[in-house]
Amino acid sequence: MTEKIDYVQLYSDDLKRCAVFESLMTDYVKELDEHGHEPMPEGFLKKWVGSIISMQGPKDRHLELCYLGGEPIGFLYGKVDRDGHNGYIRPGWGYIMEFYVIPSRRRKGCGREMYKRLEKLFKDDGADKMYLTADPVTGKPFWEAMGFSATGERSPENKMEIYEKTSSLDWGKIKLMPLTEKTTEEIGGWKYESPYDVYSFRGEADGWLMDRSTWGKEQFCLACGGRVIGQVACQKDGEDLWVGWAMAPELCGKGHGAEFVKRCVSELRRVTGHDGRIMLRVSAQNQRAVRAYQKAGFKYAETIRDEIAYSGRIEDFWVMELKDGAEK
Ligand SMILES: CC(C)(COP(=O)(O)OP(=O)(O)OC[C@H]1O[C@@H](n2cnc3c(N)ncnc32)[C@H](O)[C@@H]1OP(=O)(O)O)[C@@H](O)C(=O)NCCC(=O)NCCS
Repeated sequence: MTEKIDYVQLYSDDLKRCAVFESLMTDYVKELDEHGHEPMPEGFLKKWVGSIISMQGPKDRHLELCYLGGEPIGFLYGKVDRDGHNGYIRPGWGYIMEFYVIPSRRRKGCGREMYKRLEKLFKDDGADKMYLTADPVTGKPFWEAMGFSATGERSPENKMEIYEKTSSLDWGKIKLMPLTEKTTEEIGGWKYESPYDVYSFRGEADGWLMDRSTWGKEQFCLACGGRVIGQVACQKDGEDLWVGWAMAPELCGKGHGAEFVKRCVSELRRVTGHDGRIMLRVSAQNQRAVRAYQKAGFKYAETIRDEIAYSGRIEDFWVMELKDGAEK
């Protein structure tokens, strides 16, 4: 898109723009009805539009009209769910409530630009996870192209399928922090999909994880704001630092592995002051992890046979090393 979209927050005392919003909403609701939504009862639209307008004000509620060259081409409407909000909510998540581009302006990248704008507004409000219920005709293909995926869950309110997305991670802002009650509880609940389920903590108060004397010394979490990205452990052995870590299950299989490992290494060096060799042990079966380690600069050192955690099965493990200064 070469033209720039102008965004204007709607306020209830801006009667001219409120009338523009009502007119766009009329076309939007008519179209969604044609797509099989439960038809809106006669006379309800005006009341509904009025109640939406009257709710504008809090910083994390965004209803913006979108203009191209002075022409209103649609609107975006989202808020961050907070404890105490009514209805189906996910506290801390950005909820995209309504989203519309007029038909004559479609498939020209306007929706994409408007979505980027809303994602930025959510990020500024501290929400990097978003969800919505997708219109089955025009909504689904658009939201899928924006990186949302179907959860298989339906909203108890409008019965439509819920789609969700976690926005991209800003690795530079992700830091190693001491474990706390809250973060150990969250990590203890992590479950990985098969064949990686052997790494799940299974909600058990794992003795090592719960050993407070190690928190901030040998055990950490990698976090950004309130969001836990990974669990990280380390132990000094002579001149070497042995490490072990796990990325939050929701981030696995999405191409974050090497970045995660690189960040763990740089943060461990910063926090512990260790500038020598870093060693780790990984199941030879876990090629996904091996590839991430190689991308981050780790090299194969030797194979050992050992017992796999929880299952008691004996397996081959690779020992991998990252020599001082070999990180990529
Ligand atoms: C959904 C909507 C906002 C998309 O707006 P848009 O300006 O056409 O979106 P974009 O041009 O930015 O599309 C971005 C990408 O989404 C995908 N996409 C969008 N609409 C699509 C459609 N109808 N079919 C298939 N793919 C679609 C494409 O991959 C597109 O990229 P491309 O054009 O380069 O192939 C618009 O169709 C609309 O307002 N529909 C009616 C209301 C609605 O469904 N709102 C969402 C409620 S959940």
